[in-house]
Amino acid sequence: MGPGPRLWLLFLLHLLAQAARRSFVVDRERREFLLDGVPFRYVSGSLHYSRVPSQLWSDRLHKMRMSGLNAVQVYVPWNYHEPQPGVYNFQGNRDLVAFLKAASSEDLLVILRPGPYICAEWEMGGLPSWLLRKPDIVLRTSDPDFLAAVDSWFHVLLPMVQPWLYHNGGNIISLQVENEYGSYFACDYTYLRHLAGLFRALLGDEIFLFTTDGPEGLRCGTLQGLYCTVDFGPADNMTKIFAKQRKYEPNGPLVNSEFYTGWLDYWGGNHSTKDVKSVTRALQDILELGANVNMYMFHGGTNFGYWNGADWKKVYLPVTTSYDYDAPISEAGDPTPKLFAIRNVISKFQELPLGPLPLPSPKMKFGPVTLKLDGDLLNFLHVLCPDEPTHIHLPLTFEAVKQDYGFLLYRTRLPQNLTKPTQLWVQNSSVHDRAYVMLDGVFQGIMERGKEAALFLTGQAGSTLDVLLENMGRISFGFNQSDFKGLLQPLVLGQVALTDWQLFPLNIDALMDSENRVFETKKCDVKFPSGPAFYSATFRVPGPAWDTFLYLPGWTKGQVWINGFNLGRYWTKRGPQQSLYVPGPLLLPTGAPNSIKLLELEHAPPGTQIQFLDRPLLNFTIH
Ligand SMILES: *[C@@H]1O[C@H](CO)[C@@H](O)[C@H](O)[C@H]1NC(C)=O
Ligand SMILES: *[C@@H]1O[C@H](CO)[C@@H](O)[C@H](O)[C@H]1NC(C)=O
Ligand SMILES: *[C@@H]1O[C@H](CO)[C@@H](O)[C@H](O)[C@H]1NC(C)=O
Ligand SMILES: *[C@@H]1O[C@H](CO)[C@@H](O)[C@H](O)[C@H]1NC(C)=O
Ligand SMILES: *[C@@H]1O[C@H](CO)[C@@H](O)[C@H](O)[C@H]1NC(C)=O
Ligand SMILES: *[C@@H]1O[C@H](CO)[C@@H](O)[C@H](O)[C@H]1NC(C)=O
Repeated sequence: MGPGPRLWLLFLLHLLAQAARRSFVVDRERREFLLDGVPFRYVSGSLHYSRVPSQLWSDRLHKMRMSGLNAVQVYVPWNYHEPQPGVYNFQGNRDLVAFLKAASSEDLLVILRPGPYICAEWEMGGLPSWLLRKPDIVLRTSDPDFLAAVDSWFHVLLPMVQPWLYHNGGNIISLQVENEYGSYFACDYTYLRHLAGLFRALLGDEIFLFTTDGPEGLRCGTLQGLYCTVDFGPADNMTKIFAKQRKYEPNGPLVNSEFYTGWLDYWGGNHSTKDVKSVTRALQDILELGANVNMYMFHGGTNFGYWNGADWKKVYLPVTTSYDYDAPISEAGDPTPKLFAIRNVISKFQELPLGPLPLPSPKMKFGPVTLKLDGDLLNFLHVLCPDEPTHIHLPLTFEAVKQDYGFLLYRTRLPQNLTKPTQLWVQNSSVHDRAYVMLDGVFQGIMERGKEAALFLTGQAGSTLDVLLENMGRISFGFNQSDFKGLLQPLVLGQVALTDWQLFPLNIDALMDSENRVFETKKCDVKFPSGPAFYSATFRVPGPAWDTFLYLPGWTKGQVWINGFNLGRYWTKRGPQQSLYVPGPLLLPTGAPNSIKLLELEHAPPGTQIQFLDRPLLNFTIH
């Protein structure tokens, strides 16, 4: 063999090696991404595994793939995985690696957004509330206490995803650093640089790292070395916003990391919708421009348990349990007309996978089911808080007594006779977020952050005053995420600050375990009280355990558990959400006993009935 053919052979081998080499990079000259050296554009959708039971991940991902998407964009909520400092949970619904595998099986690439802050309308934007046990901590900055916590978390998380990076044989093509950081007050470049360094140190130089900001946040949210992307919705001026991205990335692909297909709901607000035409028209424009896009959300899911976040818009706005988002795939996982319209747009730009979209899953409707009263919450203090209560002079926050979520009871005694109605109040709306007040066990009323600031009491000196505080979800977006919970100021009676408190952090979820028999051994009041009380029932479903929607007509506000699983908050009286999505996998089929338990915080309806519907009710608004 002469030198000529040998060189050719080497050249061919070189090409083959290139082709075999998995890579996801930016081609600055052609202003596009290259996947394995070939021009590539992602059309992606957001799905949060923390909002979907793990049994249904594959179903949702399959529907996303069949809609023509080639990637899924995913947040990792830190507080979901590190419940206590140094204690980690990656089991069951929290099994991130199982989720990556499921995405891989559906042939979807992954755009991972590990935070540490994620917003996502998730409790505290994904930050663990235990960070606030250091009351002076400055979140999302180079405050050493914050960085130390981030470092130890990322030393667990990032090595776990490292084998899943695309060039290592996995499906993660890129990672987002922080989240809309430019919308936060701090503008701390030292912090962003620290994060970028940490990602590089733990994941290497090859992985594509980026940031995402709204057009107003680009100044403080971007950093050299992290690719700048933007986010905007159908009503925004695409030309203008992409031009802003171009200022930071003159040569590179255009990327909208959050194209809003719908919007979220707040308790007491109207149900949000975004019409199909506006979404598809803007999507078509984006794709025609050759831009990459991620649709937020493609499937919203549910804020189970206590995981909803809240917004601050001069008032505190907690997010509803449903995170349906008017997204292309509904909360119950069904294709909507919006999905078919979007799929049609996508098909003009890239090939759809062969095969039909799965049909909507069957739903079931049954009931009514009558619940029985198990008793007032106050009757169960010894089991809800088995430890001695904390004795203190003035009230402390949830964070100070290490109560992360749910409820904390504050107890003291009336210091004087109140013959005339006397005002019970807190300065500056410092009830975070809702207080249920009982005097000698009798419900007196509520105080709510930014709403009812006070109530009037009459009573005898020495009477027991109980104030049950509910954390309705920590603020997840905006200027400041240090949203402490509980009584942040002393509770004042007339002009006197109440002192000598006992604090009972309540572990209600332990009691709601379906196997727990404590209620059955308890003698219950026959009368129906008002104020926080437990109700329960056993029910059987008429056939296979299909999806259904729990409807609580006439109930006021509370929390509900099915077979021990915390389904989330209901607030029938305020709306707009009227029914809670009950995924089929939570239920036992025909004939088997299922348990439902409610903590109703105010008033139950006469008859104490609930129903299961075959469609959701999300849009009831009181005016
Ligand atoms: C969008 O922004 C561009 C550039 O700023 C401007 O020229 C155009 O008029 C805007 N379009 C609309 C509909 O406002
Ligand atoms: C809800 O919609 C109604 C009717 O359009 C409107 O009057 C009301 O102000 C809206 N409420 C909120 C909280 O936006
Ligand atoms: C409160 O009223 C009761 C009778 O209703 C009386 O016996 C008691 O002395 C009063 N206590 C104070 C502190 O005034
Ligand atoms: C209450 O709010 C007012 C006005 O915002 C402020 O001046 C005052 O310092 C606050 N008081 C406390 C105790 O936080
Ligand atoms: C954020 O809120 C916390 C709690 O209210 C407060 O202590 C802190 O000063 C606030 N930070 C800023 C920058 O306003
Ligand atoms: C609420 O949703 C139902 C079902 O989708 C629809 O028929 C009804 O018109 C909606 N009501 C309002 C007020 O939007």
